[in-house]
Amino acid sequence: MKRSLLTTIACTAIALPAMAADVTYRNDIAPMFKAQCAECHSADAKAPTLQEYKLDQKKYDKEKVGPRTDTYENLVMLIAYPDSGALMRRLDDGTSTLAGGKPGNMYKNLGSTDAERVKNLATVKAWLGEGAWNLNRWSKKGEVPGITKEEQDKLVLKY
Ligand code: HEC
Repeated sequence: MKRSLLTTIACTAIALPAMAADVTYRNDIAPMFKAQCAECHSADAKAPTLQEYKLDQKKYDKEKVGPRTDTYENLVMLIAYPDSGALMRRLDDGTSTLAGGKPGNMYKNLGSTDAERVKNLATVKAWLGEGAWNLNRWSKKGEVPGITKEEQDKLVLKY
């Protein structure tokens, strides 16, 4: 049987990489972060909230736990405010402007193989929103500029 044009279009759409519109926190990000990050960044691991972490960073670094990444709200704090761009700086594969060719120190945790890391990073980027991935901070620090309103407007972060 000849494929209809519609079938061809539908199959092509499936083959495309993840788009912002169909990546959600519930279906994609929460399960990925549970598998890859919860060991050191969850309430179960006795990880602190971002605010607690900032109060006593040395203690938590010694315990080898980082701020919690196990709820939507905890992630928004590491993406948008107050720790703008923290998630992106840590998960970048080294190709972003200002990354200096060096992956962030949490990039390796995105997967156990190169293929898995590449795929998971693409999903996180798609979840943020088209063109929303940048390493900027809330306020300029050294070479890193402060984030602009236009850059913030690109964040989608669908729940
Ligand atoms: C084996 C433990 C471990 C795993 C797994 C891990 N992390 Fe971390 N992470 C840490 C520790 C410890 C710190 C704090 C020390 C540092 O800044 O490197 C940290 C710091 C961070 C920070 C910086 C937070 C801030 O406010 O400065 C982010 C963002 C982060 N991790 C994201 C992730 C993500 C996302 C994953 C999963 C893909 C992940 N980490 C997996 C241990 C881990």
